[in-house]
Amino acid sequence: MEKLVIQGGKPLQGEVRISGAKNAALPLIAATLLAPGTHILHNVPDLRDTRTILKLLENLGVTWTRKDTTLMIDSTHVTYSEASYDLVKTMRASVLVLGPLLARLGRAKVSLPGGCAIGARPINFHIKGFEQLGVTCRLENGYVDAEIAGRMQGNVIYFDVPSVTGTENLLMAAVMAKGKTVIKNAAREPEIGNLIDMLKDMGAEIMGRDTDRLEIYGVDRLSAATCSIIPDRIETGTYLIAVGATGGEATVTGCNPAHLPSLLEKLRATGMEIREMEDSIAVSARRCSGNSILKSIDIKTMPYPGYPTDLQAQFMALMALSSGVCVINETIFENRFMHVGELQRMGADIRTNGHTAVVYGKGMKGLSGAPVMATDLRASSSLVIAGLAASGRTEISRIYHLERGYEQMVEKLTILGAEVWKEQE
Ligand code: EPU
Repeated sequence: MEKLVIQGGKPLQGEVRISGAKNAALPLIAATLLAPGTHILHNVPDLRDTRTILKLLENLGVTWTRKDTTLMIDSTHVTYSEASYDLVKTMRASVLVLGPLLARLGRAKVSLPGGCAIGARPINFHIKGFEQLGVTCRLENGYVDAEIAGRMQGNVIYFDVPSVTGTENLLMAAVMAKGKTVIKNAAREPEIGNLIDMLKDMGAEIMGRDTDRLEIYGVDRLSAATCSIIPDRIETGTYLIAVGATGGEATVTGCNPAHLPSLLEKLRATGMEIREMEDSIAVSARRCSGNSILKSIDIKTMPYPGYPTDLQAQFMALMALSSGVCVINETIFENRFMHVGELQRMGADIRTNGHTAVVYGKGMKGLSGAPVMATDLRASSSLVIAGLAASGRTEISRIYHLERGYEQMVEKLTILGAEVWKEQE
């Protein structure tokens, strides 16, 4: 197994380019199951998770080739409808094949993902939605076995809380259902807009993009699509925060500032300078690193356009370096403070109580390097941020978590002037 070693304390500077979004690539790749032919997806990141979903599609009969960031996926032959535990346990987004397989073949058998490091994360909303479209779902031997004779029938589906992959799965099921489906209290994350654009390119009729009420008018057939994956807003936010934590100054390019409304306001409130351009963001924390200070700012994670849970851990690392006290409230997942214990090993002063963490900032030089352990993807990136800001050497073990969602992180950080490398454990 590999570990990441960081010799911290160097301000990040220069320019870094953002990759395509993991959480858009996964549903868009799954959506290729809906229609025969060769689909072309541009700006697809090469990540452990995108390789996992491609492996899953291969098992279903799909073939694909990659040239740079473009994937050509031929889903003419979808011959199998089962996603095994072996694949689903490594990536819960595998459940995204349920909707398209039901629409294309009328049958899908997918392993239940089980719990995960950040919370229970059930898929009951997905299953209830499919049932409302007329599907029979049996939960047996750790699998959901879903089946419908003929086409699904449009219906009104209401989510108790907006679910990102739930909305995506139901959208992909409803595009070929008979009649009209309405999804109420739908999630509004930009990745869903990206999926809607692809489905429309395939011939689907969907209204309400970017709103919490989606109307889908089912069509008889769809055809292969060409679509581009949007820039990764969580990777963008992670680099902005990393620059801030090291008192650096850099430009993050190839991103979409409009997808980060909440984070950019929070970063400005800390005293960092943020300049938004069409597809890049210039960030400077130079004036926070001298005699001036990084202010403590509260955050509460919420569905989009609120503050994203996927940037909570990284913001906590930043707040550990501030000069005041702030409250971080995690409302999406019940167990998303796994990074706290590791940040404490680096000198952070954080107290948690249920879904709330209080961070007592120790100032820009308040953390020191230590051996720490990555527990999930975003927790790992918060440890990288802390390691970059800390004095001395940090060693992060279990970095396979990072590789699930950050493309070429070592190379990108090196371009920004960080001293970071991989070593065998
Ligand atoms: N929920 C249910 N039942 C369901 C579905 C969701 O109770 O059937 C609950 C969840 O437990 C959670 C809330 O609803 O409390 C929202 O979860 P959601 O379904 O939106 O999460 P998800 O679709 O499983 C996606 C991202 C996550 C991201 C969340 C929240 C993908 C592939 N994953 O997960 O990304 O944290 O939305 O924004 O899009 C990551 O990239 O590190 C990551 C975890």
